[in-house]
Amino acid sequence: MPNLANNSLAKNKKEQTQLAQVKVVSARLQAIWWLSAVIKDGRSVNDLLSVSNLTLDKQASGSHSKNDSPLARQSQNNSQLAFAKHILFGSLRYFHQIKAILEQLLDKPLKQKDTDIFCILISGIYQLKYLSVPDHAAISESVDLAKSVNKKWASGLINAVLRGYQRKNKEIGERLSKADTFLYSHPNWIINQLKMDWPNNYKKILTANNERAPMAIRINTNLTNKLSYQKLLEEQGINSQQHSIAKDALILDQPCDVYSLPGFTQGQSTVQDVAPQLVVELLDLKPGFKVLDGCAAPGGKTTHILQREPNTLLTSVEKSASRLERVTEVLSRFNMLDNSYKVKLLNVDFLDYQDWWNGEFFDRILIDVPCSASGVIRRNPDIKIHRKKTDMESLVKIQREILNSAWQMLKPGGKLVYATCSVFKVENEDQINQFFENNRAKLLDMPLEAHQELKDKSVTDFGYQIFPGQMQMDGFYFCGLEKLLSSSDQS
Ligand SMILES: C[S@@+](CC[C@H](N)C(=O)[O-])C[C@H]1O[C@@H](n2cnc3c(N)ncnc32)[C@H](O)[C@@H]1O
Repeated sequence: MPNLANNSLAKNKKEQTQLAQVKVVSARLQAIWWLSAVIKDGRSVNDLLSVSNLTLDKQASGSHSKNDSPLARQSQNNSQLAFAKHILFGSLRYFHQIKAILEQLLDKPLKQKDTDIFCILISGIYQLKYLSVPDHAAISESVDLAKSVNKKWASGLINAVLRGYQRKNKEIGERLSKADTFLYSHPNWIINQLKMDWPNNYKKILTANNERAPMAIRINTNLTNKLSYQKLLEEQGINSQQHSIAKDALILDQPCDVYSLPGFTQGQSTVQDVAPQLVVELLDLKPGFKVLDGCAAPGGKTTHILQREPNTLLTSVEKSASRLERVTEVLSRFNMLDNSYKVKLLNVDFLDYQDWWNGEFFDRILIDVPCSASGVIRRNPDIKIHRKKTDMESLVKIQREILNSAWQMLKPGGKLVYATCSVFKVENEDQINQFFENNRAKLLDMPLEAHQELKDKSVTDFGYQIFPGQMQMDGFYFCGLEKLLSSSDQS
């Protein structure tokens, strides 16, 4: 296995020193480090794999395993790194299924302190079941990993369990054939919630969640246009498709390293799924409008608002200081921090609006509220491990509070868009349904063509609910509300 610690790819001295500290690391071992960090330390895949400079700097000074950052600094085109990521994502996608298999193969559960061994077994079975690598390689490399994590005692166990799987996989599959967690590889609470919310669609959603999402980008139409950019991509050997309803979107035929996107560092494009790109259409922006982006980080919609209407007087609010830095970062990449753009960034809690709001009503408000992220599991399979049923009550409460607070700051006749990347009704149409019980508002439609396409497939009376994979989009919900001026306005 080649050495993954390739100093020539280090960007600066600090990184070179860190890379030098890394011993020879195999792709499989890297995958185990990442997997353990997700399972044991509760780290998110996004966080672990982020290649943004900001995150790299944080990783350099962070408290997690000292070995997980240097690899992230290498080009994503490195095939070994790609293999490590492949194992990581696959092991997480099929985590619940493989865990059920392991319960059949182990006499007793492994101890918490042996999570690394558990991860080696998860990734070993993932390779045997889903990858075309030769079985003997998957087994012997997994056995060798015991030594790499200084637990030579576990070699025999790993060997026995993986060989046991080879022998008994059919029998185990039959035994578990009625267990939903095994069939859909999701925790039971998510399966049950989806069954309840979407009895006709839940199987499709669960299946889509285990698939790979396409890489979608947004073209910065202030600097270029979609057709010219598509040509530029083509010249780089990157083929893409336009989307039928998202004006600024291109979907790449194959994912690629962001830095190979033409003009990426100059803000000509950014990575953003298609569904969140639709929000800006519903906002119906006009020059000089006062707009509030209520939950702004990492800044995807903040930059889209300014791109669509550069003469916006924008206030972007974000509670997390470190996440707000990411908004600054993306604004800077888009060259939107200069004086020609009027954007105010506030590191405050949205709910404390009485402290930070100057009392001038906003014409438009976007609240892309914190949510379960159940619509983006295919991009972030670690959500299936991290998100708990018990999180839901507090999430729903904060969403409701953000919506009610935002409404106070919206001028009569103004428009608000509520959005989540969730497919759970309780965070979406139920919230809006309840909102209508106490407030007077009119539902907003998307521009005609998009409205037609979305409503044809629509499953909800309030707003637009998109399921993962639908029209190549992530699971997403958004709903536009106009604040009525008087009772006769109500439709
Ligand atoms: C779904 S993300 C927003 C994504 C963003 N709109 C974009 O397009 O890039 C939700 C954000 O809300 C922030 N947030 C959560 N609670 C908040 C609060 N009470 N006040 C302000 N921001 C909050 C989170 O830190 C997170 O960055």
